[in-house]
Amino acid sequence: MRVEGLSKTFRHARRRSGSRRDVHAVRDVSLAVEQAECLGIAGESGSGKSTLARMLVGLEPPSAGSIWVKGERLPERPKSSDRRLHARRIQMVFQDPYSSLDPRQSVGRVLDEVQRVHFDRDRPSRAARSAKLLDAVGLNAEYASAVPRSLSGGQRQRLAIARVLAAEPSVIVLDEAVSALDVSIQAQILNLLSDLRTEFSLTYIFISHDLAVIRQVSDRVMVLYRGRLMEQAGAEEIFDSPHHPYSQLLLDSAPRARMSLQQRPERGFLADDGCLFRGRCIHAYARCQTEPPLLPVSPSAQARCWLAEEDPVTGQPKEKP
Ligand SMILES: Nc1ncnc2c1ncn2[C@@H]1O[C@H](COP(=O)(O)OP(=O)(O)OP(=O)(O)O)[C@@H](O)[C@H]1O
Ligand code: SF4
Ligand SMILES: [Mg+2]
Repeated sequence: MRVEGLSKTFRHARRRSGSRRDVHAVRDVSLAVEQAECLGIAGESGSGKSTLARMLVGLEPPSAGSIWVKGERLPERPKSSDRRLHARRIQMVFQDPYSSLDPRQSVGRVLDEVQRVHFDRDRPSRAARSAKLLDAVGLNAEYASAVPRSLSGGQRQRLAIARVLAAEPSVIVLDEAVSALDVSIQAQILNLLSDLRTEFSLTYIFISHDLAVIRQVSDRVMVLYRGRLMEQAGAEEIFDSPHHPYSQLLLDSAPRARMSLQQRPERGFLADDGCLFRGRCIHAYARCQTEPPLLPVSPSAQARCWLAEEDPVTGQPKEKP
Protein backbone atom coordinates (compact mmCIF):
# COMPACT_ATOMS: atom_id res chain seq x y z
CA MET A 1 0.00 0.00 0.00
CA ARG A 2 1.12 3.51 -0.78
CA VAL A 3 -0.27 6.76 0.55
CA GLU A 4 0.53 10.16 -0.90
CA GLY A 5 -0.01 13.51 0.79
CA LEU A 6 -2.86 12.39 3.03
CA SER A 7 -4.36 15.22 5.10
CA LYS A 8 -7.39 15.68 7.32
CA THR A 9 -8.62 19.00 8.66
CA PHE A 10 -11.55 19.15 11.07
CA ARG A 11 -13.48 22.38 11.49
CA HIS A 12 -14.41 23.18 15.08
CA ALA A 13 -16.94 25.95 15.76
CA ARG A 14 -16.03 28.07 18.81
CA ARG A 15 -19.12 28.26 20.98
CA ARG A 16 -18.79 31.81 22.34
CA SER A 17 -17.41 33.74 19.41
CA GLY A 18 -19.03 31.56 16.75
CA SER A 19 -15.71 31.65 14.90
CA ARG A 20 -14.21 28.51 13.40
CA ARG A 21 -10.93 26.86 14.25
CA ASP A 22 -9.28 24.30 12.03
CA VAL A 23 -7.72 21.22 13.58
CA HIS A 24 -5.09 19.78 11.29
CA ALA A 25 -5.32 16.19 12.52
CA VAL A 26 -3.16 14.73 9.73
CA ARG A 27 -0.82 16.87 7.62
CA ASP A 28 0.42 15.72 4.25
CA VAL A 29 1.50 12.22 5.29
CA SER A 30 3.01 9.87 2.72
CA LEU A 31 3.94 6.28 3.41
CA ALA A 32 4.48 2.94 1.75
CA VAL A 33 4.27 -0.53 3.18
CA GLU A 34 5.40 -3.69 1.42
CA GLN A 35 3.69 -7.07 1.49
CA ALA A 36 4.51 -8.97 4.73
CA GLU A 37 6.01 -5.85 6.31
CA CYS A 38 4.93 -4.27 9.60
CA LEU A 39 5.03 -0.48 9.71
CA GLY A 40 4.71 0.93 13.23
CA ILE A 41 3.16 4.36 13.78
CA ALA A 42 3.97 6.08 17.07
CA GLY A 43 2.99 9.42 18.55
CA GLU A 44 1.43 10.84 21.67
CA SER A 45 -2.29 11.26 22.21
CA GLY A 46 -3.86 13.58 19.64
CA SER A 47 -1.02 13.20 17.11
CA GLY A 48 -3.46 11.98 14.44
CA LYS A 49 -2.82 8.23 14.51
CA SER A 50 -6.46 7.16 14.61
CA THR A 51 -7.50 9.77 12.06
CA LEU A 52 -4.84 8.42 9.70
CA ALA A 53 -6.03 4.84 10.39
CA ARG A 54 -9.66 5.78 9.73
CA MET A 55 -8.74 7.36 6.40
CA LEU A 56 -6.73 4.28 5.40
CA VAL A 57 -9.69 1.95 5.97
CA GLY A 58 -12.21 4.30 4.37
CA LEU A 59 -14.06 5.37 7.53
CA GLU A 60 -13.02 9.01 7.18
CA PRO A 61 -12.82 10.87 3.87
CA PRO A 62 -9.42 12.57 3.49
CA SER A 63 -9.27 16.37 2.99
CA ALA A 64 -6.48 15.70 0.47
CA GLY A 65 -4.23 12.93 -0.75
CA SER A 66 -4.49 9.51 -2.33
CA ILE A 67 -4.32 5.84 -1.30
CA TRP A 68 -2.98 3.14 -3.61
CA VAL A 69 -3.28 -0.62 -3.14
CA LYS A 70 -1.34 -2.96 -5.44
CA GLY A 71 -0.71 -0.10 -7.85
CA GLU A 72 -4.36 0.89 -8.08
CA ARG A 73 -5.64 4.23 -6.75
CA LEU A 74 -8.71 4.06 -4.51
CA PRO A 75 -11.44 6.34 -5.91
CA GLU A 76 -11.90 9.77 -4.31
CA ARG A 77 -15.69 9.61 -4.45
CA PRO A 78 -16.34 5.90 -4.06
CA LYS A 79 -19.57 4.19 -5.13
CA SER A 80 -20.96 1.71 -2.62
CA SER A 81 -19.33 -1.23 -4.48
CA ASP A 82 -15.96 0.61 -4.29
CA ARG A 83 -16.51 1.16 -0.56
CA ARG A 84 -17.14 -2.53 -0.01
CA LEU A 85 -14.01 -3.47 -1.92
CA HIS A 86 -11.95 -0.87 -0.02
CA ALA A 87 -13.34 -2.16 3.30
CA ARG A 88 -12.39 -5.71 2.34
CA ARG A 89 -8.88 -4.91 1.15
CA ILE A 90 -7.87 -2.71 4.07
CA GLN A 91 -9.21 -4.07 7.34
CA MET A 92 -8.92 -2.59 10.82
CA VAL A 93 -8.58 -4.13 14.26
CA PHE A 94 -9.79 -1.69 16.92
CA GLN A 95 -8.80 -1.25 20.56
CA ASP A 96 -12.18 -2.47 21.76
CA PRO A 97 -13.64 -5.06 19.42
CA TYR A 98 -16.66 -5.43 21.67
CA SER A 99 -18.20 -2.16 20.52
CA SER A 100 -18.04 -3.31 16.89
CA LEU A 101 -19.47 -6.78 17.55
CA ASP A 102 -23.19 -7.54 17.59
CA PRO A 103 -23.71 -8.96 21.11
CA ARG A 104 -26.36 -11.42 19.83
CA GLN A 105 -24.30 -12.82 16.96
CA SER A 106 -22.37 -16.02 17.67
CA VAL A 107 -18.68 -16.28 16.80
CA GLY A 108 -19.55 -18.64 13.93
CA ARG A 109 -22.13 -16.18 12.58
CA VAL A 110 -19.64 -13.30 12.71
CA LEU A 111 -17.16 -15.19 10.52
CA ASP A 112 -19.90 -16.50 8.22
CA GLU A 113 -21.30 -13.01 7.69
CA VAL A 114 -17.97 -11.54 6.51
CA GLN A 115 -17.58 -14.30 3.93
CA ARG A 116 -21.21 -14.00 2.78
CA VAL A 117 -20.78 -10.25 2.16
CA HIS A 118 -17.47 -10.47 0.31
CA PHE A 119 -17.29 -13.86 -1.39
CA ASP A 120 -19.46 -16.11 -3.50
CA ARG A 121 -19.23 -19.28 -1.36
CA ASP A 122 -21.79 -21.89 -0.36
CA ARG A 123 -22.60 -22.55 3.27
CA PRO A 124 -20.42 -25.69 3.75
CA SER A 125 -17.31 -23.98 2.34
CA ARG A 126 -17.97 -20.92 4.53
CA ALA A 127 -18.26 -23.17 7.59
CA ALA A 128 -15.05 -24.99 6.69
CA ARG A 129 -13.23 -21.67 6.28
CA SER A 130 -14.62 -20.37 9.61
CA ALA A 131 -13.30 -23.47 11.37
CA LYS A 132 -9.84 -22.86 9.85
CA LEU A 133 -9.91 -19.23 10.94
CA LEU A 134 -10.83 -20.12 14.53
CA ASP A 135 -7.98 -22.59 14.57
CA ALA A 136 -5.55 -20.01 13.14
CA VAL A 137 -6.30 -17.53 15.94
CA GLY A 138 -6.17 -20.20 18.65
CA LEU A 139 -9.89 -20.37 19.47
CA ASN A 140 -11.29 -23.82 20.11
CA ALA A 141 -13.99 -25.02 17.64
CA GLU A 142 -16.49 -25.02 20.54
CA TYR A 143 -16.36 -21.21 20.56
CA ALA A 144 -18.26 -21.11 17.25
CA SER A 145 -21.56 -21.07 19.14
CA ALA A 146 -20.41 -18.59 21.85
CA VAL A 147 -21.59 -14.96 21.88
CA PRO A 148 -19.08 -12.10 22.35
CA ARG A 149 -20.38 -11.39 25.89
CA SER A 150 -19.11 -14.75 27.09
CA LEU A 151 -15.57 -14.17 25.76
CA SER A 152 -12.65 -12.65 27.66
CA GLY A 153 -10.87 -9.53 26.34
CA GLY A 154 -8.10 -11.62 24.79
CA GLN A 155 -10.58 -14.03 23.17
CA ARG A 156 -12.58 -11.13 21.75
CA GLN A 157 -9.42 -9.72 20.22
CA ARG A 158 -8.69 -13.17 18.72
CA LEU A 159 -12.19 -13.13 17.24
CA ALA A 160 -11.62 -9.61 15.88
CA ILE A 161 -8.43 -10.85 14.20
CA ALA A 162 -10.24 -13.91 12.76
CA ARG A 163 -12.97 -11.63 11.41
CA VAL A 164 -10.37 -9.43 9.73
CA LEU A 165 -8.62 -12.49 8.23
CA ALA A 166 -11.98 -13.77 6.94
CA ALA A 167 -12.05 -10.81 4.55
CA GLU A 168 -8.62 -11.80 3.10
CA PRO A 169 -7.34 -8.21 3.16
CA SER A 170 -4.22 -6.80 1.51
CA VAL A 171 -3.41 -4.65 4.55
CA ILE A 172 -4.45 -4.86 8.21
CA VAL A 173 -4.46 -1.64 10.23
CA LEU A 174 -4.23 -2.27 13.97
CA ASP A 175 -5.16 0.82 16.01
CA GLU A 176 -4.16 0.34 19.67
CA ALA A 177 -5.16 -3.31 19.17
CA VAL A 178 -3.57 -4.56 22.38
CA SER A 179 -3.72 -1.40 24.49
CA ALA A 180 -6.78 -2.45 26.49
CA LEU A 181 -5.40 -5.88 27.38
CA ASP A 182 -3.44 -7.06 30.43
CA VAL A 183 0.27 -7.33 29.80
CA SER A 184 0.32 -11.16 29.71
CA ILE A 185 -2.63 -11.29 27.27
CA GLN A 186 -0.99 -8.50 25.27
CA ALA A 187 2.09 -10.71 24.80
CA GLN A 188 -0.07 -13.61 23.61
CA ILE A 189 -1.88 -11.47 21.04
CA LEU A 190 1.40 -9.93 19.82
CA ASN A 191 2.83 -13.44 19.39
CA LEU A 192 -0.29 -14.50 17.53
CA LEU A 193 -0.03 -11.48 15.20
CA SER A 194 3.58 -12.24 14.51
CA ASP A 195 2.89 -15.96 13.82
CA LEU A 196 0.00 -15.06 11.49
CA ARG A 197 2.18 -12.56 9.65
CA THR A 198 4.78 -15.23 8.97
CA GLU A 199 2.23 -17.90 8.05
CA PHE A 200 0.06 -15.80 5.70
CA SER A 201 2.51 -13.03 4.61
CA LEU A 202 0.26 -10.42 6.22
CA THR A 203 0.94 -6.71 5.93
CA TYR A 204 0.38 -4.63 9.07
CA ILE A 205 0.18 -0.98 9.92
CA PHE A 206 0.55 -1.14 13.68
CA ILE A 207 -0.49 1.97 15.57
CA SER A 208 0.24 2.45 19.24
CA HIS A 209 1.14 5.05 21.83
CA ASP A 210 3.13 2.27 23.52
CA LEU A 211 6.69 2.27 22.23
CA ALA A 212 7.50 -1.09 23.83
CA VAL A 213 4.73 -2.71 21.79
CA ILE A 214 5.74 -0.91 18.58
CA ARG A 215 9.30 -2.08 19.09
CA GLN A 216 8.24 -5.71 19.43
CA VAL A 217 6.32 -5.93 16.17
CA SER A 218 7.56 -3.33 13.69
CA ASP A 219 10.15 -3.51 10.92
CA ARG A 220 9.98 0.24 10.34
CA VAL A 221 8.61 3.07 12.44
CA MET A 222 7.06 6.44 11.64
CA VAL A 223 6.72 9.08 14.35
CA LEU A 224 3.82 11.53 14.12
CA TYR A 225 3.58 14.83 15.96
CA ARG A 226 0.54 17.10 15.56
CA GLY A 227 -0.38 15.20 12.41
CA ARG A 228 3.04 15.66 10.82
CA LEU A 229 5.49 12.88 10.02
CA MET A 230 8.61 13.81 12.03
CA GLU A 231 10.89 10.81 11.57
CA GLN A 232 10.92 7.50 9.79
CA ALA A 233 13.52 4.80 10.21
CA GLY A 234 14.09 1.11 10.73
CA ALA A 235 12.73 -0.02 14.10
CA GLU A 236 16.14 -0.81 15.58
CA GLU A 237 17.64 2.44 14.38
CA ILE A 238 14.88 4.64 15.77
CA PHE A 239 14.98 2.98 19.18
CA ASP A 240 18.78 2.85 19.40
CA SER A 241 19.58 6.29 17.97
CA PRO A 242 16.53 8.48 17.38
CA HIS A 243 17.47 11.54 15.31
CA HIS A 244 14.52 13.91 15.71
CA PRO A 245 14.36 15.80 19.03
CA TYR A 246 10.71 14.71 19.37
CA SER A 247 11.59 11.04 18.94
CA GLN A 248 14.37 11.53 21.51
CA LEU A 249 11.90 13.11 23.91
CA LEU A 250 9.46 10.23 23.45
CA LEU A 251 12.12 7.67 24.21
CA ASP A 252 13.68 9.62 27.09
CA SER A 253 10.35 10.29 28.75
CA ALA A 254 9.14 6.71 28.43
CA PRO A 255 9.47 4.94 31.76
CA ARG A 256 11.68 1.88 31.36
CA ALA A 257 9.10 -0.77 32.23
CA ARG A 258 6.13 0.64 30.39
CA MET A 259 6.96 3.15 27.70
CA SER A 260 3.83 5.20 27.30
CA LEU A 261 3.15 8.48 25.54
CA GLN A 262 -0.44 8.77 26.56
CA GLN A 263 0.14 10.98 29.59
CA ARG A 264 2.41 13.59 28.03
CA PRO A 265 0.84 17.03 28.29
CA GLU A 266 1.36 19.63 25.58
CA ARG A 267 3.56 22.47 26.81
CA GLY A 268 4.82 25.72 25.40
CA PHE A 269 3.19 27.54 22.54
CA LEU A 270 1.87 25.71 19.52
CA ALA A 271 3.17 27.46 16.47
CA ASP A 272 1.39 26.56 13.26
CA ASP A 273 4.19 27.94 11.12
CA GLY A 274 7.81 26.89 11.15
CA CYS A 275 8.76 23.61 12.81
CA LEU A 276 5.63 22.37 14.58
CA PHE A 277 7.75 21.07 17.44
CA ARG A 278 9.65 24.27 18.16
CA GLY A 279 7.54 25.24 21.22
CA ARG A 280 8.83 22.14 22.99
CA CYS A 281 12.23 21.72 21.40
CA ILE A 282 15.30 22.38 23.56
CA HIS A 283 17.41 22.85 20.41
CA ALA A 284 15.15 25.39 18.66
CA TYR A 285 17.04 28.23 16.93
CA ALA A 286 16.33 30.96 14.42
CA ARG A 287 16.09 28.72 11.37
CA CYS A 288 13.28 26.69 13.00
CA GLN A 289 10.82 29.49 12.14
CA THR A 290 10.83 27.85 8.72
CA GLU A 291 9.52 24.30 8.64
CA PRO A 292 12.13 21.76 7.53
CA PRO A 293 11.37 19.07 4.96
CA LEU A 294 12.15 15.42 5.74
CA LEU A 295 15.95 15.30 5.54
CA PRO A 296 18.15 12.22 5.27
CA VAL A 297 19.87 11.36 8.55
CA SER A 298 21.22 7.96 7.58
CA PRO A 299 21.01 5.80 4.45
CA SER A 300 17.65 4.44 5.67
CA ALA A 301 16.17 7.19 7.86
CA GLN A 302 14.78 10.71 7.50
CA ALA A 303 13.97 13.34 10.10
CA ARG A 304 12.10 16.64 9.76
CA CYS A 305 14.70 18.73 11.58
CA TRP A 306 17.28 21.30 10.47
CA LEU A 307 19.87 19.68 12.76
CA ALA A 308 20.06 16.91 10.19
CA GLU A 309 21.93 19.21 7.83
CA GLU A 310 23.67 21.91 9.87
CA ASP A 311 25.24 22.71 13.20
CA PRO A 312 23.02 25.42 14.74
CA VAL A 313 25.94 27.14 16.50
CA THR A 314 28.45 27.35 13.67
CA GLY A 315 25.94 27.13 10.82
CA GLN A 316 28.34 24.65 9.22
CA PRO A 317 26.72 22.00 7.01
CA LYS A 318 26.90 18.44 8.33
CA GLU A 319 28.29 15.64 6.26
CA LYS A 320 25.58 14.02 4.15
CA PRO A 321 24.73 10.46 5.30
N1 LIG B 1 -14.26 13.67 14.36
C1 LIG B 1 -13.46 14.64 14.78
N2 LIG B 1 -13.87 15.91 14.81
C2 LIG B 1 -13.04 16.90 15.21
N3 LIG B 1 -11.79 16.71 15.62
C3 LIG B 1 -11.32 15.47 15.63
C4 LIG B 1 -12.12 14.35 15.22
N4 LIG B 1 -11.38 13.22 15.32
C5 LIG B 1 -10.16 13.62 15.78
N5 LIG B 1 -10.13 14.95 15.97
C6 LIG B 1 -8.96 15.74 16.44
O1 LIG B 1 -7.86 15.37 15.63
C7 LIG B 1 -6.66 15.28 16.40
C8 LIG B 1 -6.06 13.90 16.23
O2 LIG B 1 -6.88 12.93 16.89
P1 LIG B 1 -6.63 11.37 16.79
O3 LIG B 1 -7.73 10.70 17.50
O4 LIG B 1 -6.39 11.00 15.38
O5 LIG B 1 -5.27 11.20 17.61
P2 LIG B 1 -4.56 9.88 18.16
O6 LIG B 1 -3.13 10.03 17.82
O7 LIG B 1 -5.27 8.69 17.67
O8 LIG B 1 -4.74 10.02 19.75
P3 LIG B 1 -4.89 8.84 20.85
O9 LIG B 1 -3.49 8.33 21.13
O10 LIG B 1 -5.44 9.57 22.03
O11 LIG B 1 -5.80 7.79 20.31
C9 LIG B 1 -7.07 15.63 17.83
O12 LIG B 1 -6.77 16.97 18.04
C10 LIG B 1 -8.54 15.36 17.86
O13 LIG B 1 -9.18 16.20 18.81
S1 SF4 C 1 13.76 22.01 13.30
FE1 SF4 C 1 14.37 23.17 15.10
S2 SF4 C 1 12.62 23.22 16.50
FE2 SF4 C 1 12.26 21.62 14.96
S3 SF4 C 1 13.00 19.78 15.93
FE3 SF4 C 1 14.71 20.57 14.74
S4 SF4 C 1 15.88 21.91 16.13
FE4 SF4 C 1 13.88 21.47 17.10
MG1 LIG D 1 -6.17 7.01 18.61
